[in-house]
Amino acid sequence: MAKQKNPAPAAVKRTSIDAIDPTDINAVRRDRRELMRRPLRANAGFLPNDIIHCCQTPLAPNCFTRSNWHPGNLYGEGMQSEQIRLTGARETLLITLQAKAEESAMPDSLLRDCFAADALRRIDQDSRHLKVGHDMIVGIAVRAYILDRWTEAFLRRCPEATVLHLGCGLDSRILRIDPGPNVHWFEVDFPDVIALRRQIYPDRAGCAMIACSIVESSWIAELPADRPAMIVAEGVLPYLEEDEVPQLLRRIAGHFPSGEIAFDAYGSFTIQLLRFHPVLLATGASLHWALDDPAEMVRQVPGLELIEDRSDWDIGQVARMSPPAQIAQLFSTVLTPYRMGRLLRYRF
Ligand SMILES: C[S@@+](CC[C@H](N)C(=O)[O-])C[C@H]1O[C@@H](n2cnc3c(N)ncnc32)[C@H](O)[C@@H]1O
Repeated sequence: MAKQKNPAPAAVKRTSIDAIDPTDINAVRRDRRELMRRPLRANAGFLPNDIIHCCQTPLAPNCFTRSNWHPGNLYGEGMQSEQIRLTGARETLLITLQAKAEESAMPDSLLRDCFAADALRRIDQDSRHLKVGHDMIVGIAVRAYILDRWTEAFLRRCPEATVLHLGCGLDSRILRIDPGPNVHWFEVDFPDVIALRRQIYPDRAGCAMIACSIVESSWIAELPADRPAMIVAEGVLPYLEEDEVPQLLRRIAGHFPSGEIAFDAYGSFTIQLLRFHPVLLATGASLHWALDDPAEMVRQVPGLELIEDRSDWDIGQVARMSPPAQIAQLFSTVLTPYRMGRLLRYRF
């Protein structure tokens, strides 16, 4: 039989997590419902309840590694992909993912996140309409890089620790850092984001996923409290309401015996400006929480102590930005009250 010249392309694996269409009963939704009902695997050990999905298998052999990654078509047209419809704060994960992928494809990349581009390729929701500009790409990479280094430093001091990665989105921090076997790592985000994350990233021993809003009150109480904890929240807390952030930090600091909390924060003026940023407007996400004075957090959360407050990016990184962004960065560094954004590290 003559060979078909242009065989029909293999069926694209599509998984919708569109929460808007209630008739769309598909694989991910079934999976989510199943996940919410599933009792914990018996051997999970450190895992408490059924909002937590445990990844017990070691890294799959075909998973991304630094050595098998090839830069290429970031947006992966025609590739097998996960179809998604993220909106609002959830959609902002595409901003950071796109920024990390694009920065990592630059010859002078700081972050060198080879996993972001792979994740972006596998998502069917095109993020190009978000138009993440060059300065934002560099800024997001610098922020992620510093949070990576802080997390690594903590894990060097406490190799038997818990890591809570709040509002993880599709960030590949765990793969970039590659923590040791005695680290219990929890990725936390909304259920539909976690469902997508599970489609994109391979299971990994020591890593569990928690599918709920970080402001829900119950999930932290169910985590094991026997180890020091590193809490990382990148690009997440400004989406919460004013009173939700101190409440969340109080729950965390009250639960673990000791640890550190690292996150980015913006002053109230910057939050007002960011509300009109075209990239954020395109997602429909709204920002609420602002922090003008890092000491305020210490007053609001008993036991918290500020150990690092950074807004002075490395001069080499600032030099990669446009002249207006360089000037803004200089003002922000020199004139403390006008700081646009900062990275904060507290201990408790
Ligand atoms: C800008 S993205 C950042 C994602 C990731 N941290 C990164 O840097 O790539 C914001 C993330 O916060 C998550 N998020 C926002 N509010 C949340 C909440 N209340 N509970 C859980 N996740 C939340 C969103 O779903 C999204 O994944």
